[in-house]
Amino acid sequence: MTRIAVYVSGSVAAFKAVSLVRILQKEGHEVRIGMTPASTRFVTPNTFYALTHQPVLIDLWQINQSPVPHIELADWTELALVVPASADLIAKMANGLADDAVSSSLLATRAPIMLAPAMNNQMWANPATQRNLNRLIADQKIILTPKTGLLAEGYVGKGRMMEPEDIANQVKNWLAKQKRLVGKVILVTAGGTHEAIDPVRFIGNRSSGKMGLAVVQAALEAGAKVIAVVGQVQVEFPKHPNLTVKKVTTTAEMLATTLDAFKKVDALVMAAAVADFRPAEVADQKIKKQADQDKLTISLIKNPDILATLGAKKDHQIIMGFAAETNDLLQNAQAKLAKKHADYIVANDVSQAGSGFGVATDQVTILQPNIEPKRWPLLSKREVGQRLINLLAKRWQQSK
Ligand code: C5P
Repeated sequence: MTRIAVYVSGSVAAFKAVSLVRILQKEGHEVRIGMTPASTRFVTPNTFYALTHQPVLIDLWQINQSPVPHIELADWTELALVVPASADLIAKMANGLADDAVSSSLLATRAPIMLAPAMNNQMWANPATQRNLNRLIADQKIILTPKTGLLAEGYVGKGRMMEPEDIANQVKNWLAKQKRLVGKVILVTAGGTHEAIDPVRFIGNRSSGKMGLAVVQAALEAGAKVIAVVGQVQVEFPKHPNLTVKKVTTTAEMLATTLDAFKKVDALVMAAAVADFRPAEVADQKIKKQADQDKLTISLIKNPDILATLGAKKDHQIIMGFAAETNDLLQNAQAKLAKKHADYIVANDVSQAGSGFGVATDQVTILQPNIEPKRWPLLSKREVGQRLINLLAKRWQQSK
């Protein structure tokens, strides 16, 4: 049972939202409704009130409901559906506008949002609408693309809303996917480690933490509990009831923290860029340059390899490591599989444009023992994270 908010906007397809509500309720979901003023010209709020036995959110200024009804609905919602999504509401959402109860509630909700657009074919094809849709896709909204079919105008064109049964199926598949990792605990390391030279300086690397964050987000979306061991990052980790974030600075701290958690987790995804060496001695005070000094030598000693250390202790855990290389990618990555006892190595040529440190995209190749490497196309890191979590989910599914 999921708490689903259906937001209805002004399109003739609004009547189909009534059947959708019925189907969702029959499948056991709890449904509440938000309507734009325009949509009430197509379907009366009484219909939805009678079906849901809940107040219908229409007006921001109605004083006999809760004091902030749009936020209350936003916070209650586990999945938001915009059915139908008019060109106007799509444009508002793409730009973060919030001038009525529905757009305000949609801006406020933290729930995932699916939209079923419905409009005239020329409105659909208009570059402004396409631009807005692309923006929503980039914002992680799910678009249920309209079909080509008979429009209210009496001719065939693209813009006919997906049928309620098909929308309900999309919801079902999506929900099934979300719950795939319920009961699993995943340990993810992210970012770079810093190794102190003196109280002011350190040796670090260019890791931004984006890949680790993408894995964390995908694991949370799939219902897993996540322990994130986070070094230096340029991204913010979300606050989520299933996420524990442990901040660390050095490789030694990262090793101690991951070791501590390792026994109770089902998988380790080692996305952190760990410093292989650290200064042999850390100066107590800031190292001063001396007169006539043209050279300073810092002697480095080897850091423990976290992945290899945990790999050697592996019991039921699935281990996924990363290999960032600038040359001989596959040979180097292949060697790491065995050396680090990993089940997967995600190999990444960081010398390639659009791949590697700091950027939002990645082109990776997946290596597994005794299986041909699989090259994935250039994808957003978020999508790479989702696909990596898919690999884990499939593996657990097969071993059931
Ligand atoms: O050996 P290399 O650094 O290329 O291996 C990369 C993989 O090993 C990554 O998953 C990284 O997080 C992990 N690693 C580690 N401890 C180290 C060095 C790398 O766990 N000291």
